[in-house]
Amino acid sequence: MSEKFKAPRGTFDVLPEQEPLRARIEQLSRQMLERAGYGRIDTPAFEVTELFARGVGESTDIVQKQMFTFEDQGGRSLTLRPEGTAPICRAYLEHGMQKLAQPVKLWYSGPFFRHERPQAGRFRQFSQIGAEVIGSDSPLVDAELILLLSDLLSNLAVPGVRLRLGSLGTPGARAAYLDELRGYLRSREAELSDEVRNRIEANPLRAFDADDEGTRRVMDEAPTMLERLDQADAEHFDAVRELLDRNGVEYHLDPTLVRGLDYYTRTVFEFECEQLGAQSGIGGGGRYDGLIEQLGGPATPAAGWALGVERVALALGQQESPPGADVFVVAAEGGREGALALVTELRRAGLTADLDLGGRAVKGQMKQADRAGARYALILAEGKATLRDMGSGEEHEVDPARVAEELA
Ligand code: HAM
Repeated sequence: MSEKFKAPRGTFDVLPEQEPLRARIEQLSRQMLERAGYGRIDTPAFEVTELFARGVGESTDIVQKQMFTFEDQGGRSLTLRPEGTAPICRAYLEHGMQKLAQPVKLWYSGPFFRHERPQAGRFRQFSQIGAEVIGSDSPLVDAELILLLSDLLSNLAVPGVRLRLGSLGTPGARAAYLDELRGYLRSREAELSDEVRNRIEANPLRAFDADDEGTRRVMDEAPTMLERLDQADAEHFDAVRELLDRNGVEYHLDPTLVRGLDYYTRTVFEFECEQLGAQSGIGGGGRYDGLIEQLGGPATPAAGWALGVERVALALGQQESPPGADVFVVAAEGGREGALALVTELRRAGLTADLDLGGRAVKGQMKQADRAGARYALILAEGKATLRDMGSGEEHEVDPARVAEELA
C-alpha cells in the first residue's frame, strides 16, 4: 500500500479479533446502565463550535489546542465532539427534557475526537461510554454514578483500579479559593516552571498537575480547595463520602484532583488503572451544576462520567477470539451450490454456519473448518452427508434436511 493512504496519526482500525472485547464492554455497560434506569441517547458526531467553547471552557487545553474544527459550506464553524457532556446538555434543552420527571438519566456510547499527541492509550479518535444525570443536586446522584462505574469496572474485571475523589466546591467558594491560590503562586513565582507561571491567571489549578520538581515543591504546601469548601459544599461532599463508605466503595481523597474540563462543580472523581502507565485515567467525571445555565437554560444541577473504551480494552489486555461456527459445510467438487443452499438454511434456523469460498479441495476445507473453530463439519461427498464432531472426531451419516434439528 502507498504510504500516503495510511490511516491518520492517532487513529486505529478495530479488527475482527478485537471486536468481541469491545462488544462485551458495551454490552455490559448497556445492561448495567439500563438496569439502573438510564436511557440511551445518541447525539451527532459534530456540533457548533460555540457549544464546546462555552461548555467545556475557553481556557481548557481541549478548546485551546485539541478540537478538530472546520467550516461548513455556509461558513458556520463546526467541531467534531471532543466530549459528550455539553452535547447531552444541549439535547436536554433542545428537547425540553426539563419538563420530564427529574432527574433525567441518560447514557451514550460512541466516538470522540481530540487532537492530542498520540501515545499508548491516547488517540485522536477514541470511544467513550458515558452516563449523565440531569436535574438533581442530591448526593445520592453522585454516589449512584460512582457506584455504577465502580461496579462496571469490577464486573469487567479491570485490574489495579483506584478511585480518586475530590470536590471543587461551588463557583463562589471556588473563585475565592482560586484568588487565594493565585496570590500564593505569585508569592513563589521564581520557583515555578515557565508553563505554570504563564498560566497563573488563566488556570492556576493546573499547577497541581505539573511534573517539574520546583513547581511540585511549591504545590506540596499550597492551600487546597478541600480546605476551603463552604458549608453547603462540605456537607454535600461529606454525604457523598458517607454513601460511598456505606456501599463499600474505596477511594483515595485527593484535594488536588483537577479535571481537564471547566464545567465541574462540587464532586469530581477519576478511576485510574495502574497497568496503564502514563495514560492511567480509565474513566472520570463529576458534578456540573452550572453547565445547563451556561448554555442558556434554567439553573439545573447535574452530574456524570465517561469511560474510555480503548483504555479498558488495553487494561484487560486479552483478545477474545470470536466464537467458532456451529457447523462448517465441506463440499466435494460438484456439491458447492448445494453447500450454499444448506448453509443458508442452517443460518435461517438460527445456527452459525459457514462454508469455503476459496475453491479449496476437501482436505483444505477440513483444515479451514478446524481453523475456524467449528463445532461440527458437515461433509457432502459421494452422494451422502456426514456430520463430524470436530472435538471428538466421531462421525455419522445424516439427512441434510435434518441437520438443524439434530444440532439444536
Ligand atoms: P474526560 O476525563 O476528558 O471526561 O474523558 C473520559 C475518559 O475518556 C478518560 O478517562 C479516558 O479514559 C478517555 N479519554 C479521554 N481522552 C482520550 C484520548 N485522547 N484517547 C483515549 N481515551 C481518552 C470527559 O470527557 C467528560 N465528558 C466526562 C463527564 C461526563 N463528566 C461529566 N459527565
